[in-house]
Amino acid sequence: MSDVPVIADLVAVSVWSEAARAQGERIALVPTMGALHSGHLSLLAEGRRRAQKLVLSIFVNPMQFGPQEDLAKYPRDLAGDLAKAASVGCDLAFVPEAASMYGRGYQTAIDVREVSQGLCGARRPGHFTGVATVVCKFFNIVRPHVALFGEKDFQQLTVIRRMVTDLNLPVEIVGLPTVREPDGLAMSSRNAYLSPADRQRATALYAGLSTAKALADRGERRASVLIEAATAEIAGRVDRLDYLELRAADDLKPLQTIDRTAVMLVAAFVGKTRLIDNLRLG
Ligand code: PAJ
Repeated sequence: MSDVPVIADLVAVSVWSEAARAQGERIALVPTMGALHSGHLSLLAEGRRRAQKLVLSIFVNPMQFGPQEDLAKYPRDLAGDLAKAASVGCDLAFVPEAASMYGRGYQTAIDVREVSQGLCGARRPGHFTGVATVVCKFFNIVRPHVALFGEKDFQQLTVIRRMVTDLNLPVEIVGLPTVREPDGLAMSSRNAYLSPADRQRATALYAGLSTAKALADRGERRASVLIEAATAEIAGRVDRLDYLELRAADDLKPLQTIDRTAVMLVAAFVGKTRLIDNLRLG
């Protein structure tokens, strides 16, 4: 298991990438904010299978955090991340500085309109603009053939797919299933914030989604009934249910009944920690 080279310099990464392309090699990119867990590693492992060169980016992107959010205390563990990246055969870790990503005079942003609205977009103003912008920048710097994202952040994945289509970006987007703890909790870097008691209560999100899925599997199609059942399971165990909605899986349009593939999406506060999860229904 050899060490993964780390590059912070944007031009150096582009030079590295052009050299690989000149050899006819495919490049896979997995963008992350670090504090890697098994969810991230599943993306890296799939990237490894799909390309000759596997690039991990680690960047806690200030543009996607609101002023009251956890930018300053977001978990950081570069040494641990590099060891994990090495274990899956990563070829390069791109770890830029905020000052070089957003240099003096920086003023451009990408606004992916409808799919960024509602859900997390409504609670975190500007969040998806920050995500879309930084991901587009990563695509331009690294120029991957394929980039891998988790369905854990379902709205984010939808925003990125929309951006790639709308802006004709020459990259294939691969979405992969949510990796969970044995008790169902979706893996997240933010789970590290949870006290043992809150960690226990956090299982409510997946339990509620699973209840709704079981009902849908038995033929229930009404959004109101499915949402009520999930809410009954979740609301009493978390500190605040932020949203719980049924949307169409392809374009995130609100659904009254499941007449196409649906996804139930939830966000809730457990203690001070905001957790999200989702599950496909029907
Ligand atoms: P981050 O939260 O570090 O997540 C990086 C990638 O890992 C995202 O595609 C996310 O959906 C995926 N991921 C997270 N938890 C997962 C899980 N339990 N199972 C499967 N995949 C999971 O998402 C971001 O960073 C940022 O917004 C980013 C896209 C890097 C832009 O800054």
